[in-house]
Amino acid sequence: MDYHNFLRVEFYSLPVNVGLARVTVAAFAAQLNYTVSELDDIKGAVSEAVSNAIIHGYEGAPDRLVKLIAVVRGNELEISVEDGGKGIENLEEALRPGYSSGVERLGLGFSFIRSFMDTLDVQTVPGRGTKVLMTKRAGPPGGHAHAN
Ligand SMILES: Nc1ncnc2c1ncn2[C@@H]1O[C@H](COP(=O)(O)OP(=O)(O)OP(=O)(O)O)[C@@H](O)[C@H]1O
Ligand SMILES: [Mg+2]
Repeated sequence: MDYHNFLRVEFYSLPVNVGLARVTVAAFAAQLNYTVSELDDIKGAVSEAVSNAIIHGYEGAPDRLVKLIAVVRGNELEISVEDGGKGIENLEEALRPGYSSGVERLGLGFSFIRSFMDTLDVQTVPGRGTKVLMTKRAGPPGGHAHAN
């Protein structure tokens, strides 16, 4: 499959932009053959990653930039959410289900992303920032791979 498409958006680290990121990626993903439930999964994954960038990466600072890139390659979507915030000291611990550095959080964001998407990869440098890469494959173009 040779079909390619690319989207890049940057926005301030404001909670109101979580919703913006969700619908932006969902609108972009709609060019692939996803079911409604798969589009919901993609929205959920984007929400978790963008919330993490704002809450943990930038610790609530409202005027830092979150970079969102979405790429379509054939029938696969790759999404990257990047912040230039504090980074993660212990990534293995952060990825563990139920681990949270916040007191009143569930520590399930990364677990949700894992269940919603086909792949998850986190690149982080303490003091420099974090990049969350995730992919999800869609059904074949024009096919009826999924019952709705
Ligand atoms: N972009 C980020 N920058 C810095 N630290 C992060 C970032 N994303 C995640 N983390 C760290 O990884 C931990 C686990 O993230 P995860 O999303 O799984 O749980 P949570 O955000 O703590 O809770 P929940 O997502 O359930 O509200 C966070 O508590 C935080 O310490
Ligand atoms: Mg989280």
